[in-house]
Amino acid sequence: MDDHPVLETEFNGLSRSMPSLPAAWYRDPAHHARELELIWGRNWIYLCRSETLDGPRSFRTFEVAGQPVLLLRNAEGALRGFLNTCRHRGSILCQKPSGTLEKPLLVCPYHQWAYDLSGALRATGPMRPVDGFDRADHPLLSVSVAEWGGFVFVNLDPSARSFDELYGDETAYVDNWPLADLRVGHSYTKQLKCNWKVFWENYNECLHCPNIHPELSNLVPIYGRAIMARRDDPSWSEHPDDPAPRASGGLREGAETWSMDGRAQGRLAGVTDDDLDTGQRYVTVMPSIFIAHHADYVRTVQIIPTGPEEMTLTADWLFDPEMQDRPDFDPARITDFGKLVMEQDGAACELNQAGLASRRFDYGVLMQEEYEVFLFQDWVRRQLGEPALGEAPASRASRRRKEDR
Ligand code: FES
Ligand SMILES: [Fe+2]
Repeated sequence: MDDHPVLETEFNGLSRSMPSLPAAWYRDPAHHARELELIWGRNWIYLCRSETLDGPRSFRTFEVAGQPVLLLRNAEGALRGFLNTCRHRGSILCQKPSGTLEKPLLVCPYHQWAYDLSGALRATGPMRPVDGFDRADHPLLSVSVAEWGGFVFVNLDPSARSFDELYGDETAYVDNWPLADLRVGHSYTKQLKCNWKVFWENYNECLHCPNIHPELSNLVPIYGRAIMARRDDPSWSEHPDDPAPRASGGLREGAETWSMDGRAQGRLAGVTDDDLDTGQRYVTVMPSIFIAHHADYVRTVQIIPTGPEEMTLTADWLFDPEMQDRPDFDPARITDFGKLVMEQDGAACELNQAGLASRRFDYGVLMQEEYEVFLFQDWVRRQLGEPALGEAPASRASRRRKEDR
């Protein structure tokens, strides 16, 4: 991917301007349905934290790519995923958003077909046996489930590669964070009037940072230069080891974490100085979540598309429960900063979406610095089976060295 023909080789950037995605892809309901099927229906999608399914026979229901999904723990506590659809005539099986089953059986509310927690059909209610019918042919349709660091993902595509195979390298980068032990201490949800791709395009560039994020640009000096990583500067090789945060991407001198005053409130167990030398570390599981790792907490930002021109953003702040119980622990110093930045980004995304309503605007243009936006859009095109721009294959939408971020 690093040798994509339109990417510079000596620094992170596009070697020529490139057309952006068609504007209709951000508004058209038929195109949106295609993206739900081919992108949201085929990738690993983040659903929830493991601890929200607490104990054997606990369950939660979700909608993923427009499809009803049921997650449950079996009698041994193992997590299973199914389409929440009865195999008789297709009724929703489990009507509640969450709970614990009284018996190890899922009973359809329509005609009482009953399934065990492995998904096998055990009883057909009042229906008599009939020629041509075998219960074994009608188990619940299963959905692949993956758990990593206390995060639960599903994949609706039965032929998808495993989560570990796809994301093992990326998640190893934050091995030192005690993710599974952390608990959600604060949440923030906001409906945004923008297409989900607008959100990710905003995430993938910092050209907007000096203007839109003055506080963040002060905390992360390289962002104040409208770039995100050392190699985004075309002349970076003239000072390749410059330790100054303006060049390295680390936090401003004296700052330890993303918070209102830059001070951290302790450090998560296992996290080292080396882990923190770039200020923050990201794991991105496209298209549903990014996870920002800091000295004293972790923040997740989850994306759920709710229509061609709208999405729900949910941020969770994960803390060490012991740290959180300390009387002097002040989560607002952390959460206020994150919300400030997210509100700034949300407003910019909504402005972007509103402008896309102009019918004579066919598509935009990507400039040198927007190489990550290009790679994201290239990934979208490939997922949809559309012709790529350029020739080299891109396996996923991230080129920037993670330690540079
Ligand atoms: S649809 Fe479920 S039992 Fe009839
Ligand atoms: Fe931003």
